[in-house]
Formats: sequence, structure tokens, C-alpha cells
Amino acid sequence: MNKFLTLRLAGLLCLSALAPLAAHAAVNAGEKLYQAHCAACHGVQLQGATGPSLIDQVWLHGAPTKANLITVISKGVADKGMPPWSPTLSAAQIAQLADYVAQGARTGGKAAAPTASAASAASTATAAPKAAPADKTAAILGGLKLPKGFRIAVYADKVETARSMAVSDSGIVYVGSRKAGKVYALVDADKDGVAEKVVTVAAGLQNPIGVTLLNGALYVAEISRIIRFDNIDASYAAQPAYKVVKADLPKETWHGEKFIKTGPDGKIYVPIGAPCNTCNKEDQPYSKIWRMNADGSNFEEYARGIRNTVGFTWHPQTREMWFTDNGPDMMGDNAPSCELNVAPKAGLHFGFPYCHGGVLPDPEFGKTQACEQFVAPVAKLGPHVAPLGLGFYTGTQFPQQYRNNLFIAEHGSWNRDNKIGYKVSLVTLYNSKVVSTTTFIDGFLRDGDEVVGRPVDIAVLADGSMLVSDDHGGRIFRVTYAGK
Ligand code: HEC
Repeated sequence: MNKFLTLRLAGLLCLSALAPLAAHAAVNAGEKLYQAHCAACHGVQLQGATGPSLIDQVWLHGAPTKANLITVISKGVADKGMPPWSPTLSAAQIAQLADYVAQGARTGGKAAAPTASAASAASTATAAPKAAPADKTAAILGGLKLPKGFRIAVYADKVETARSMAVSDSGIVYVGSRKAGKVYALVDADKDGVAEKVVTVAAGLQNPIGVTLLNGALYVAEISRIIRFDNIDASYAAQPAYKVVKADLPKETWHGEKFIKTGPDGKIYVPIGAPCNTCNKEDQPYSKIWRMNADGSNFEEYARGIRNTVGFTWHPQTREMWFTDNGPDMMGDNAPSCELNVAPKAGLHFGFPYCHGGVLPDPEFGKTQACEQFVAPVAKLGPHVAPLGLGFYTGTQFPQQYRNNLFIAEHGSWNRDNKIGYKVSLVTLYNSKVVSTTTFIDGFLRDGDEVVGRPVDIAVLADGSMLVSDDHGGRIFRVTYAGK
């Protein structure tokens, strides 16, 4: 009791020693940090969610003095789900958080109610409806499983039908979308790991899922056109005009949505999917990856035999193209496997429509051409998992063993009896060759049937954290690594 009182007094003295204005500023800064990093588990109003309430006067780790709070926030609680925040947050930021939590503890959270700027979702109405959206997000985050030491948080929400992502040199994240018809710019100006602005760059586009950057311009792939916004980092907020780079792509919507990405050769790569489940349209532009110059000229075939790829990237060291391909439906729940492929040079054939998953001849088209004639996948990702975007881990924040390994967003099955996919998988390479495929983020599918998210694309930020887009929840998640 004595100890408790002394600690409590020490905490109060410490606070009261600050000039009132400075203390107020510290608490405001703390509140912002709290909403960004802690609210998902402890509730928007500190009321508790998957983590304990911080206003209920029950303290598992000592009285809520500034010193005690700094210790528990910095070190976390190993194996109890409270992550360590040092060194992800600076000592000054952790002190601001301690001030904020201490004030909430003293006032029962009243003075700690978030302001509109810190948490717009909780700025109005009564307590119960306020808590609902945050609790939902907390429940989603709380059920996502990652390897030890990794954390996942929401980088941005209200990014309706978010699809592929492109990160500019200044750190703005551009995101394409599906039904929403929009392209977004996500801006984290204060670099706290949460995009405080989601700006609509363009609207009314036809399924503009693909975005990529080249020479300061943002290229966007719609179903049948590729358009370009010049000098995008300077113009994204002012409803910029665009130029049409290519307008004569096929208009079919079946597998007509287009991923797009700039290659290391400065050319722009874009697929044209097969407009069917299985069909032979090899004599037409379908089931191929194409490439072109920045101005749309010299449109040429790069690879063929590809049913529908919605993600490709280049190995950071070998500079070879790696891409995912989605296998056909209607061949049973367990076949064929979706593919991870490597196209080190132009002119290769990956089997569609003759051979699926590298081993399964198509019942209709596979009679004349054997699987051996085609380039086999470097990994079979499983039936109907719908692998979409993929990204090599090029940052330094994650432990050494992740460098230059590959993350794949699996959107998940839509017509399989038991749902499969709905995760981010990790492909481990040795000497640039696949050695294993394991699950990195699980839990987008709950109890086998409840879908809380569908991963679409992967992007690595300059600080080494990793973004995952989710078109089901209209969110971008951010994964960070915080400890052993
Ligand atoms: C992933 C969920 C999660 C996040 C995010 C999280 N916490 Fe926690 N926190 C917990 C859990 C779970 C506990 C309880 C640990 C235990 O049982 O010992 C906890 C405990 C605490 C405690 C000690 C409570 C007590 O009763 O003594 C404090 C203080 C705290 N967290 C503050 C924070 C702050 C500040 C942040 C943001 C920087 C944060 N937490 C982020 C899950 C989380």
C-alpha cells in the first residue's frame, strides 16, 4: 500500500512538474500515438478489447505511474500478447503514451476520450455505438496470426475494394480498386505508421486495379485502357488530369482486370487474361503478359500460356520476373494447383490451356500437347487459393532470414467446398530457388467460413515495414517487426 502510494505520488509529482501547456501537448501527442498503435487492442477509449481495460483500476503490472507504464509499454509482456514498443517507438513517444494512459487511469478515461483528429470513428454519439467499429477492427486484428515478434495494424481504412499498390520515392502509397472505380493516394505525412489521409486521385474508372510508377508518373490499368498521371506526387490532391497511353486492349471483363508493373528494364508490363475458364485463344492477344515503352509504343508479347496473372515482380538480385497464375475452376476441389512461375527471359510458354499446375493435362486441350513441353511452375501454391500480388522482402526491419524471400497474397477460393487461401504466404528461397512455402499471416478466414479479409497485394515501405491490401474490408494492413 505504501509502495503503491509512493509510486502514485511520484507519478503525479512528475506530471505536475511539467508546465500545464507542455503537459497538455504531451497528452495530445500521446493520444494520437495511442489511437494509432494501441486502440486496436485496448479500445478507442481505453475501455479494453482483446487487451485489458486501462481505466478499470485493475493493474496487472503495478500502479499506473509514469515509470511503471514506461516499463510495461517499452518491454511488453512476453507471451501475453502485449508487444514491446521499444525500439519501434522512441523513448519520448513512450513517455507521451505513459502520460496519456496515466491521465486516462486517473480520470476513468473521461479526459482521455479521443478527439476528432485522433479518432474520427469515435468522435460522436454515445459510448456503445462509438466502440463498435473499433471493436470490430480490434477483433479482426486480434485474430490474425503472425510469427513471433511481428505485429499487424491498420495503415488505412475506407479504401474501398483496395487492390494493387505502388509506393513512390516520397512514400505516398497509390492504390487501385475494383468496383469502387477509384485510385487512392495514402499519405502518412507525420511518419507514425498510419496514413492519416486517404485521397481520391481519380474516380469513375473501369476496375482500375493496377497501378505502377515510372518517371514520376502514375500508370493505371483499367479493363481496356492504360492511363497516365504525370508528376503524380505533386498533383495527386488536385484531381489531376490523365493522358491515355493505350486504349485498344480487349474489352472482355472475364479476367479482364489488369495488374500492371514497371520492370527493371524501364518497360511497363501488363497481362491480358484468358476471357474464359479454359479456352484456346492463343492466336489472339489473350493468356499472355505483354510489355511496352513508357509512351505505350512497341507493345510486344513477353510470355504466354498464362490463364490469369494478377501479380508479378522481379527478383531483387537476379532481376528475373516472378508471377502468380490462377488455375482453372470446374476440375474439382483439389485440382489443379495455382502456380508461382519464373520468366527469366521473353518467349516462354507456361502451359495454359494445355497443362495446369505443371502436371495436369487439360481434359479438352491437353490431348495433343504434353506438360513436358511447357515451363513448369517453381511452386504449386494449392488449388483455388487465388494467389494475387507478391513482393520480395527488400527491407531490413524484418530479421535477416526474410531478406529477398517472397510474400504472396492469397485472395482465397470462391467456389471450393471448404474455403482455402485467405492468407499471406512466405516462399523461402535459397540461391534464388524455392525451398519451402509456409503461412506468414493467417486468420483472414475464421471458423472455416467467416471471411474478415482477402489479401490482394504486398508492398514494402522504406522503413522495412510491409503493407498488405484487402479488398474485402477496404483496408491496408501494416506489418512491423518488433523483437525476438
Ligand atoms: C496486440 C494487442 C496489444 C497492443 C497493440 C497493445 N497492447 Fe497493451 N496489452 C495487451 C495485453 C494482452 C496486455 C495484458 C498483458 C498481461 O496479461 O500481462 C497488455 C497490457 C498493457 C498494459 C498493462 C496493463 C496492466 O494491467 O498492468 C499497459 C499499460 C499497456 N498494455 C499499454 C499499451 C500501450 C500504451 C499500447 C500502445 C503503444 C499497447 N498497450 C498496445 C495487448 C496489446
